[in-house]
Amino acid sequence: MAAPDARARATAAKDAVKPLPLALLDDPLEYILADHLRQRCVCASLKTFATAKRASRAEADQVIAFLSCELPLHHQDEDLDLFPTLRRRLHPEDDLGAVLARLSEDHKRTELLIHDIIDALAAHPADDPVKVGRHARETMLGYSALEHRHLVIENGIVLVIARRRLTAADLKAMSGAMKARRGVH
Ligand SMILES: [Fe+2]
Ligand SMILES: [Fe+2]
Repeated sequence: MAAPDARARATAAKDAVKPLPLALLDDPLEYILADHLRQRCVCASLKTFATAKRASRAEADQVIAFLSCELPLHHQDEDLDLFPTLRRRLHPEDDLGAVLARLSEDHKRTELLIHDIIDALAAHPADDPVKVGRHARETMLGYSALEHRHLVIENGIVLVIARRRLTAADLKAMSGAMKARRGVH
């Protein structure tokens, strides 16, 4: 029987990859914030994998599903909708242009790391547990650290300013684009 902490981790990973309620797409900034919480849960799973040098098949598959399906959509939400809309509304004193450019660069940098992580976890689909080798462990910890810094800036600065600057029409347009991206009408 799984230890309580292992069960709690498995539940957190499972919750992280569960689709968010579609109604939340009506409030796009809240949706993005909720997605960030899922990213934190996935990073916690990756740190656990790296420490234990292995992952259960179920947890590995949940993380693969999130990184390959959900995270690319989130990056598009930001790169194609949130950041460009916010750029148009920024006041000079917000001084956020370089920060937004850096965040989009982070998305590109993390794509390479995410590819490596997915490859490592998916390499032997019949293995349970999945062995996590040294290169994969370093990549998981490197990605988690980068993502943590990224989320601190997005939650603490970008979303705070977006709440002040975006208009009701901006939010409605963002909501429509994010729904279309997910095939929701
Ligand atoms: Fe984000
Ligand atoms: Fe981001």
